[in-house]
Amino acid sequence: MKTLIIILAVIRRTVFNNGVDMDLSSLRREYCLDNLNENDVLPDPMAQFEVWLQQVISAGLNDPTAMVVATVDEAGQPSQRIVLLKQSDQDGFVFFTNLGSRKAQEIKQNSKVCLHFPWHSLERQVIVYGEAQRLSLKQDMSYFLSRPKASQLAAWASHQSHPVKSRDVLMSTFEQMKNKFKTGDISAPTFWGGFRIVPTKVEFWQGGEHRLHDRIFYQKIDNNWTISRLAP
Ligand SMILES: Cc1cc2nc3c(=O)[nH]c(=O)nc-3n(C[C@H](O)[C@H](O)[C@H](O)COP(=O)(O)O)c2cc1C
Repeated sequence: MKTLIIILAVIRRTVFNNGVDMDLSSLRREYCLDNLNENDVLPDPMAQFEVWLQQVISAGLNDPTAMVVATVDEAGQPSQRIVLLKQSDQDGFVFFTNLGSRKAQEIKQNSKVCLHFPWHSLERQVIVYGEAQRLSLKQDMSYFLSRPKASQLAAWASHQSHPVKSRDVLMSTFEQMKNKFKTGDISAPTFWGGFRIVPTKVEFWQGGEHRLHDRIFYQKIDNNWTISRLAP
């Protein structure tokens, strides 16, 4: 009888839990790796960000510089996607993309964006609120030239966020670009470039036991950073 019950339980799990009937409500864990105190953080959020980014890199997380960029379209519809952070310093957070892409078009209409660094393997996240500014053509070019040649060609071959008939069409455009730029340096396409997100607010989140998380919130007021704690 006991064996029969076990077999039925296994069948039930296999049939139902591999589909939509999966019980997600029991998937949870405690967050207790670290804590974050107002007195321990650096006065400047960019300096604090550098400390955390270094720790993420040292911890060996995949894609440590991956961040979610959220933008909003004219109708107020938010959208988001991952990009790679390519520079962070006192001036803000830099990424590169296609200027005809959805994100770039939305930024053109509304330069307010939100960034999210999802470092939950370390029970951390960082959220940045800020304004996007276009980099100079010189800055675009300097980074573009540092990219692997295939990535440069891919930038030329892809009209990002626009419909493409098939993968074959994409690959054939890529091959055409290979031929076009057989020799010499490849210049950056005029439809490709970088944005710097200049932060106005930054939140550092550290998971805490019993969901009593630490949230340290920086806000720029009159050109000075203030620090406060938010309830979890
Ligand atoms: C790990 C990762 C890194 C990415 N890095 C970039 C990037 O640096 N720049 C970029 O334009 N797209 C990057 N992408 C692709 C974007 O997520 C997205 O598909 C693309 O930019 C088009 O977005 P949009 O149509 O919302 O503008 C990355 C995707 C992943 C998963």
